[in-house]
Amino acid sequence: MRDFEHKLIFMTDIHITSRGNKIIGLDPIKRFSLCLAHAAKNHPDAVGLILVGDLTHDGTQEQYEILKSALFDLPWPVHMTIGNHDLRKNFQKVFPEEPTDKKGFIQQSVVVGDNTIILMDTNDTTIEPYHGGNLCEHRLNWLEAELKNKPAQSVIIAMHHPPLITGFPGMDNIGLHNRNHFNQITKNNSAVYMVIAGHVHRTIIGASGGKPCAILKSPCHQMPLELNEENSSLSIDEPGAYGLLLIGQNNPVLLTEDVGSEV
Ligand SMILES: [Fe+2]
Repeated sequence: MRDFEHKLIFMTDIHITSRGNKIIGLDPIKRFSLCLAHAAKNHPDAVGLILVGDLTHDGTQEQYEILKSALFDLPWPVHMTIGNHDLRKNFQKVFPEEPTDKKGFIQQSVVVGDNTIILMDTNDTTIEPYHGGNLCEHRLNWLEAELKNKPAQSVIIAMHHPPLITGFPGMDNIGLHNRNHFNQITKNNSAVYMVIAGHVHRTIIGASGGKPCAILKSPCHQMPLELNEENSSLSIDEPGAYGLLLIGQNNPVLLTEDVGSEV
């Protein structure tokens, strides 16, 4: 890893189901375990695993307990936030040790060398249509406070709902409700280097508020490339995937790894 000092693993849209339940014939627990095993074998030297929401499919306590067992005995510390398929109160029952902000939103700053990963909680069950994300005034104020005095280009924001229009009409319909407000904050803040998101189940690279934005695939099921589709729940069986962020004296870079059925 010449030129880089730290690695961080990113996974999003794990969608843990209740035991025995599958999504389009795929077992999310098995698929997640394959990605974890692949990352543990190839990147045991990473300094952390970041989970970017849709940890579970239905937000039940049982599903968070399954997730907790899958995260046992990994070579890295795990940092998490939630997505639209999660339920904050059940998450907190099973992961009471996970840091939150003062109001109980699942957001925190993780320091890695000279850089900071800011995890934001975009879950908001009051948003129409359901499954859309939102960052209320409190969460945006929290972000601005976390960004204060950070060096230029040193912060990576990780959050479930991407702040850009992706070209998938169904998904954009349930995107980040107040993306314009978020983009205004990042645009005017030199500390923000890039945004890493999930939600769409497809690798997407773009820019939002003048900052690069990358969306990662799921370890389980992916979104087919159907750009005229209003349906947001189309899924396709393609290899699971995860992201690898390299951090060092050069600006951070994000790589992606597809994981087949064998490790
Ligand atoms: Fe998802």
